[in-house]
Amino acid sequence: MTGVVDPVPPHPAATITAGPPPSLRTADWSEIHGLFALDPGAIHLNSGTVGAMPHAVLDAVDRVTRQWAGGLGDVYPPGMYPDHRAAIAKAYGVDQDEMVITHNATEGVARVIHGLDLHAGDEVVTTTHECYSVLSNFNLLRNRFGIKLTTITLPTGYDVRAEQIIELFEAAITPRTKVLAFAGITLFTGTKLPMRALCELAQRHGLTTVIDGALLPGMLDLDMRAIGADFISCSGSKFQCGPLGTGLLYVRNKIHPEYNPLPLPRFWPIISTWYPMKGSPPPRTRTSLESDNMGDYLQSAGSASIARGAGLATACALWDEIGRDRIERRIMLLAEYARYRVAERFGRDAMYSPGADRVLKSPLIAFHPFRRPEDAWNVKKIHEFTMRLQREHRLFTRWTEFDVPGSPHQHYASRITTHIFNDFDEIDKAVDIMAGLAAEMS
Ligand SMILES: Cc1ncc(COP(=O)(O)O)c(C=O)c1O
Repeated sequence: MTGVVDPVPPHPAATITAGPPPSLRTADWSEIHGLFALDPGAIHLNSGTVGAMPHAVLDAVDRVTRQWAGGLGDVYPPGMYPDHRAAIAKAYGVDQDEMVITHNATEGVARVIHGLDLHAGDEVVTTTHECYSVLSNFNLLRNRFGIKLTTITLPTGYDVRAEQIIELFEAAITPRTKVLAFAGITLFTGTKLPMRALCELAQRHGLTTVIDGALLPGMLDLDMRAIGADFISCSGSKFQCGPLGTGLLYVRNKIHPEYNPLPLPRFWPIISTWYPMKGSPPPRTRTSLESDNMGDYLQSAGSASIARGAGLATACALWDEIGRDRIERRIMLLAEYARYRVAERFGRDAMYSPGADRVLKSPLIAFHPFRRPEDAWNVKKIHEFTMRLQREHRLFTRWTEFDVPGSPHQHYASRITTHIFNDFDEIDKAVDIMAGLAAEMS
């Protein structure tokens, strides 16, 4: 399996600066690597599952846990995280009333899905490439209320184009469709969906949009409002490198017509101790001024882990200091290099991730490592490959499973992910190790 691949950026030599950097904004990447509590000798290419925590985040969690350990304070006000939410919201171009600190992407998306005003016969369009957390919750609504779920199987491979994906969504919409739900970046093939274009499509049909944004924060320099979605549920512990058990949820809570002119959807903030105990909240706003704080309704859900919230806020503040634009460029540059090396070594036909359309590229790269095509549906083999990479080489990757259009089998791929604590030499080493082991196992 060989093929022609796009020109690659050269392997850049690390720039060494003398003395301490004036700030993280100008620190070189080897210094930024030192911020992370990484396991020495291991190669971490699995931020799509969990990132590496910076030492400052670990310190914040530890310090705040100890501060509250005596049990003499009122734990409820700090659990609303008003300041953390305001700071994090600002970094993502939104306001405090639109931002919630959740326990993870799964919890956030479940609270959104079960808070939507859906009834028997209403239709939801989504994809078979969604996380289990999305599909299982919509399926629960199907069983409980009789909604209809339409699942598109996304195309896979190096040459997939954004227009193909938009056309598939458009063809699945019917007069009964109420919701479009999709991952910002799919976890199985690392396809970055054309989020803005899909939200515009949804808006043309008057639909509510739910984005599973688990992989987005900490990777992309996002203006969440400009995407035009109603809800974006994110993980805090993947690319954002906050503590495990943290997430972010964006909820559209006012109308900025340039991004989304539709009225705010009817929404029921489940699990809330702030939602009125009698009567109804004020009607939802029709302007760019909020009528109510939907973020507070969702945030107030009993006692919270004050320390984990502080840890996530610390990670976000570090990212702001390094520069989110700079972080995105670095991650994507490393990914471009990794994609090139994987395609060169395993062949372009082995790639499940897009590589030709700039819009669809992400730092998650999924590919078939073995020589025989039929090994793509051999779950035992891909599992063994991934485990041996870990055990024998301390190389941390993961395998994924997904439908492929026209194939009677689920396919299994090896997946690597690049982050700012990785470097070009690690990628070279990882590709050599994976090629060697795959040849041995083929
Ligand atoms: C696209 C996607 N959605 C949702 C999740 C679940 O994330 P969390 O563990 O934060 O709930 C994952 C985890 O890998 C993911 O990749």
